[in-house]
Amino acid sequence: MSFIGTDLELKDTILKLTREYSFRKHKANRPGDQRHLVPDFVPGITAVPYAGRVFSEDEVEAAVGATLDFWLTLGPEGEAFEKELAELLGVRYSLLVNSGSSANLIAITTLTSHKLPTSKRIQPGDEFITCAAGFPTTVAPIIQNGCIPVFIDNDPITGNAKIDQLEEAYHPGKTKAVMMAHTLGNPFDIGAVLAFCKKYNLWLIEDNCDALGCTYSMPVEQAVNLNIYHLLKIADEGKHPLIRYVNTANGKSLEAPTGTWGDISTQSFYPPHHMTMGEGGSVNIIWQAKLKIYAESFRDWGRDCWCASGKDNTCNKRFQWQLGELPKGYDHKYIYTHLGYNLKPLDTQAAIGRVQLRKLPAFIEARKMNWEYLRNGLANLETYFEFSLPTHALSWDKDKSFTWDSTGRKTDCSWFGFMIRVRPEAPFTNSDLGRFLDDNKIGNRMLFGGNLLRQPVFVQLKIDRPESFRVVGDTPGADILMNQALFLGTYPGLTKDMMDYEIEVIYRFITSKKDNV
Ligand SMILES: Cc1ncc(COP(=O)(O)O)c(C=O)c1O
Repeated sequence: MSFIGTDLELKDTILKLTREYSFRKHKANRPGDQRHLVPDFVPGITAVPYAGRVFSEDEVEAAVGATLDFWLTLGPEGEAFEKELAELLGVRYSLLVNSGSSANLIAITTLTSHKLPTSKRIQPGDEFITCAAGFPTTVAPIIQNGCIPVFIDNDPITGNAKIDQLEEAYHPGKTKAVMMAHTLGNPFDIGAVLAFCKKYNLWLIEDNCDALGCTYSMPVEQAVNLNIYHLLKIADEGKHPLIRYVNTANGKSLEAPTGTWGDISTQSFYPPHHMTMGEGGSVNIIWQAKLKIYAESFRDWGRDCWCASGKDNTCNKRFQWQLGELPKGYDHKYIYTHLGYNLKPLDTQAAIGRVQLRKLPAFIEARKMNWEYLRNGLANLETYFEFSLPTHALSWDKDKSFTWDSTGRKTDCSWFGFMIRVRPEAPFTNSDLGRFLDDNKIGNRMLFGGNLLRQPVFVQLKIDRPESFRVVGDTPGADILMNQALFLGTYPGLTKDMMDYEIEVIYRFITSKKDNV
């Protein structure tokens, strides 16, 4: 059978059928507020994942459309996505890569470029301050670059680094950067970390992989003292919806998304994250244009040339350069400034990402509402659980929400998950609870690698190359997170029925444990 009509009409027909197929096939992946389109939730039978892809026929159409166009490698969709993401966040550039782990690798490697001034260039043996509990690929690229991660502890209440250990971790002449994640969508104390970085002239890389959509605010005078001019300038212009001045009880504050405060930040677009393109990530160059050139070079084989894929002579000097010991006029496309990688994703992934970006505000809102719903539903279980608090919050209350510390700084969390810590005196452990939830088809996770220092890889490194990392103190907070914490999902695919079921199952678990005491 052959189609009668133009190529465009044929593509249009394929895409219409694609939408129809996707509508039928992927109903369970729709956002929680569209669940009227999905077969009823059957408690105990229908799985309640901790996270997952939330999409509709729009993303599937975009994927098929881009695949039919068959550009394949990063191309027009990627270029558009990079611009749209950078605009949304309010950063200078975003570079797409094939995962959040690759983004961390590129972010860290960028700072090793020989094109940086000697005082800022990171060399083997230099130190990065990071924290003990979290995801392994926040830390691995530090060691892969021949540098030394210096682990400080985590605060079990926020999941973030214990910033009062920063000074102790500092090693004059060796410490060059701070690299840490905003844990589970809870921003770390950006004000304190930036003050520390400013004091010692250090780089700050924000691993924002789990925190897309979080905002952080600080009184304007603090922002001025910290020289955060790149954000103050945007707020002064008054055009960016997320980078702005807000009036608070303490006066005027500067508010901006996480991932825009330091030098470089990273995102992951793996399915459990705030938006997805299957695999994918981005390196966000927050304000220094030169870093984009180095990051792009490391991403794209280490090359000196910055032509986009399919372009040949963007610099207009393709056969006029003389670099290294190459002959003058050697093709710029094959001149290599760095020891690079190839970490680009496919254009089809970017096409999916562009649709997800448009849905991101609603996804973020859903995550916040789901966290609040679970917090309310489990509020009476404080005898057994300690609940997470946003950084700078002192307490949570059903009616008044959060109370805040006296720093004047605040967080608005775009939660990756709902973390609870089982109290040590409870008659059960986090593993017992995890198993029970699992048996009842409720997805749950521990805080990634727990205390990374207890992982086989670090135990082995301590034997093989004890000088390859440093630890400040005993990391009891990271141990608490490893031994007591567990998180449920907050992802936008959850419905109220699902969350009511989660709450009911947790109460049932507690009752069974009380009966056994
Ligand atoms: C904090 C953090 N950083 C980095 C990553 C790595 O992202 P990816 O899975 O896309 O490699 C993850 C993964 O979930 C993460 O949670």
